[in-house]
Amino acid sequence: TPAALGGLVLGYLLGSIPFGLILTRYAGLGDVRAIGSGNIGATNVLRTGRKGLAAATLLGDALKGTVAVLVARQLGEGPALAAGLGAFLGHLFPVWLGFKGGKGVATFIGVLLAFSPLALVAFAAIWLGLAFALRYSSLAALAASAATPAVLWALGAPDKALLFLVLGALLWWKHAPNIRRLAAGTEGRIGQKG
Ligand code: G3P
Repeated sequence: TPAALGGLVLGYLLGSIPFGLILTRYAGLGDVRAIGSGNIGATNVLRTGRKGLAAATLLGDALKGTVAVLVARQLGEGPALAAGLGAFLGHLFPVWLGFKGGKGVATFIGVLLAFSPLALVAFAAIWLGLAFALRYSSLAALAASAATPAVLWALGAPDKALLFLVLGALLWWKHAPNIRRLAAGTEGRIGQKG
């Protein structure tokens, strides 16, 4: 439908704003893609040693997804789902960066906030538990994102479960280098400088 297409496009445009890249450049730190994992996300911004900038990146990359869904929801639940997908695709594949974007964890969180705060609580519990225990940001996100569709299904929201199954699959795919490093025991720990 035209409304769903509108939601998808709105989501994509908001989602493709690379907060990590913009904030680190504005702070005079150069190109965040030249350090650590080369990613534009909050985990890699933290490798610059600037915790505030990392937090702002997490917030910006999350809230762009939340805002996209809340705005598109004015047109209905279908357009809201499309906007969530669009925001996630925009973050992963921003046209402005030659389609080389982030790995999607923050935007996954922001879209989830708009659809099910309760499922986000479950996500956060898994993420925080694993992140504090093992100090791998990637592993914590991989586990939490894999659990999310099941949580949404259990909460009686199969359409949202399907959306997050798609987002989770894309998130895992973008984490292929992290998965290889985790298996090899060479993945960087949280806060470790890059
Ligand atoms: O899951 C967190 C993800 O963003 C990992 O980032 O920079 O360690 O590849 P990075």
